[in-house]
Amino acid sequence: MKSPGIERVLFTEEEIHRRILQIAAGISEDYAGRQLKLVGVLKGSVFFLTALARELTVPVTVDFLGISSFAYSQTTPGLVRISKDLDESIEGEHVLLVEDIIDTGFTTRYLLKHLSERAPKSLAVCTLLDRTTRRIVQIPLDYRCFEIPDRFVVGFGLDYQQFYRNLKYVAVLNPEPQS
Ligand code: IMP
Ligand code: MG
Repeated sequence: MKSPGIERVLFTEEEIHRRILQIAAGISEDYAGRQLKLVGVLKGSVFFLTALARELTVPVTVDFLGISSFAYSQTTPGLVRISKDLDESIEGEHVLLVEDIIDTGFTTRYLLKHLSERAPKSLAVCTLLDRTTRRIVQIPLDYRCFEIPDRFVVGFGLDYQQFYRNLKYVAVLNPEPQS
């Protein structure tokens, strides 16, 4: 059943799960024989990160960054601030940055710079959603589940004013004002 305010479902729970299995298999193969640190970005990527982590077959540790991002709605794109830093060092580790969505690319570029300054052994990027049509800065993207059209989406971690994160699917939000 759709939640109020949802225009149409883009990816169902089953489609997301199937795609995560494929991506996880690729990551497990690429990192075979090594251990991997997943770095999630609060709060959006938590839902994807936990689903992905459960399907990985390499030893995995998890840490989180918190950010305040003004990239989507304001006229000054790219303004990102760390509000919660990593709990542990990533020096010498294989790090996979796990994102909910890459839009303009400003957030990811900022986070990659922040993480690479901590001297990880390797640094790669994995995103649930990729909206290439709005990309402003090019960033290296190693793994992505889905490309999406230029519409605002919610669910599976993505929010509108902090709501909808818990939806099992990814959906286009109805642009009409909510009553
Ligand atoms: P970027 O810096 O433009 O790539 O912005 C990425 C961030 O903007 C994401 O981490 C989200 O928090 C937010 N964002 C961008 N598009 C959407 C969307 O369609 N739904 C929900 N959040 C979005
Ligand atoms: Mg948000």
